[in-house]
Amino acid sequence: MPEQRTQIDGGPAGGENLDLLETRYGNRFLREEAPAEKLPAVGMPAVEAMRLVGEELMIEGSPQRNLATFVTTWMEPEAQRVIAENLHRNFIDHAEYPRTAELEQRCIRMLADLFHAPGETTGARTQGSSEAIMLGALSLKWNWRKRREAARKPIDRPNLVFGGDVHVVWEKFCRYFDVEPRIVPLKPHKYTIGPEDVEPHVDENTIGVAAVLGTTFTGHADDIVGINDYLLALKRERGLDVPLHVDGASGGFVWPFLYPHSEWDFRLEQVRSINVSGHKYGLVYPGIGWLIFRERADLAEDLVFYENYLGKRDATFTLNFSTGSAMVVAQYYNFVRFGYDGYSYIMHTMQANARKLAEDIAAIGDFTIIGNEGSEQLPLVAFQLAGAQRYDEFDVASQLATERGWMVPAYTLPPDAEHIKIMRALVKQTLGRSLATALAEDLAQACATLKEKGSLHHTDRKRVHTNTGF
Ligand SMILES: Cc1ncc(COP(=O)(O)O)c(C=O)c1O
Repeated sequence: MPEQRTQIDGGPAGGENLDLLETRYGNRFLREEAPAEKLPAVGMPAVEAMRLVGEELMIEGSPQRNLATFVTTWMEPEAQRVIAENLHRNFIDHAEYPRTAELEQRCIRMLADLFHAPGETTGARTQGSSEAIMLGALSLKWNWRKRREAARKPIDRPNLVFGGDVHVVWEKFCRYFDVEPRIVPLKPHKYTIGPEDVEPHVDENTIGVAAVLGTTFTGHADDIVGINDYLLALKRERGLDVPLHVDGASGGFVWPFLYPHSEWDFRLEQVRSINVSGHKYGLVYPGIGWLIFRERADLAEDLVFYENYLGKRDATFTLNFSTGSAMVVAQYYNFVRFGYDGYSYIMHTMQANARKLAEDIAAIGDFTIIGNEGSEQLPLVAFQLAGAQRYDEFDVASQLATERGWMVPAYTLPPDAEHIKIMRALVKQTLGRSLATALAEDLAQACATLKEKGSLHHTDRKRVHTNTGF
């Protein structure tokens, strides 16, 4: 029996004794609320802060079972080491860290080559595709204005044409930067757009058309070849030169490997700029995107700022200034680690597992898979309930999360297909064959449970169309 005992609740164990016990056996947040409203008056030992943060985050969803996100949830231990070793470097300090800047330029050149840029070009590292799209679309606006000013035409009513299948960032751009959005509505059973949809909306005030390679909703691509052909005809017949920007947030790292002969990039004359998320199928952790121009002239020179605060005259084309270097370095690591062959292997593996998962989901008998077998698509499975049931896709998503912790989102499509509900499972590097099989079994089980007990919710399930998990 120990010589000295201390009671925990009340009595002599309060005050200093309790402090001692906490220090020895735990931390004080086992018995106290975590600081949430004010900066605490005094701090705490590092190990305690580490435990506090760790414990708070412990109850989050598991990234490995998050099949909603397009964003990378796993990298190799060597890549993690490269990231850890570069966390303290500010990317914008080109004078101090010129090799980091060189790695960025190498990544830009490699992507320009992958996207078949005809010659020397330029681009930028961004925080993600959202920043890349804002910058790319600003360049469209500036170049349009320059053309209009040269022709002595009004510049007060710019518009941008895109489909309802785009990510919300395109509408955000229009609102933030005062451009009229001309959104082509989707239709039931037609979830991407083509030239016939774009044509009625384009006029001399159109700063550009945006097409998506791998939509957030179903993973398919707009008819980029068709839109390019239409824009070429417009240039030839009416002298209107309307540039095409391809939003390859996800598809830019998928199509070159799965569908190398499919033309969507700078092989098409009107494609003037492309964005891609390094942190999606570029296989890097969150915080990296890329904007690549077809030619230097596609970047409006007015948008580039020159400064010398950091010791050397430098050009910046970005919405942010200071930011980390780690993800740029990690992107370069992935490029040299995998090469074309490695990315190709990984993309084909994900595609094969997505196809197997689609077969297994179809075999449950309750679901219809969205998309034809041969259609070009991101490695994912988009599906919906076949026929009327006592429950819907949102119930299936909730039941699956409750029973097995899988995060497979349910959402509604944008107008005019907003009555259509869809579920979507991303098949990434970490969803190997046996986990894909387990997911299909768990989905079948969730349906069996729902058949017994019916709908889980009776609330209004209207969802905004971007609730897709990104
Ligand atoms: C087609 C598309 N464009 C743009 C974005 C925004 O990309 P980011 O999250 O890299 O900013 C997404 C995100 O999912 C997307 O799917």
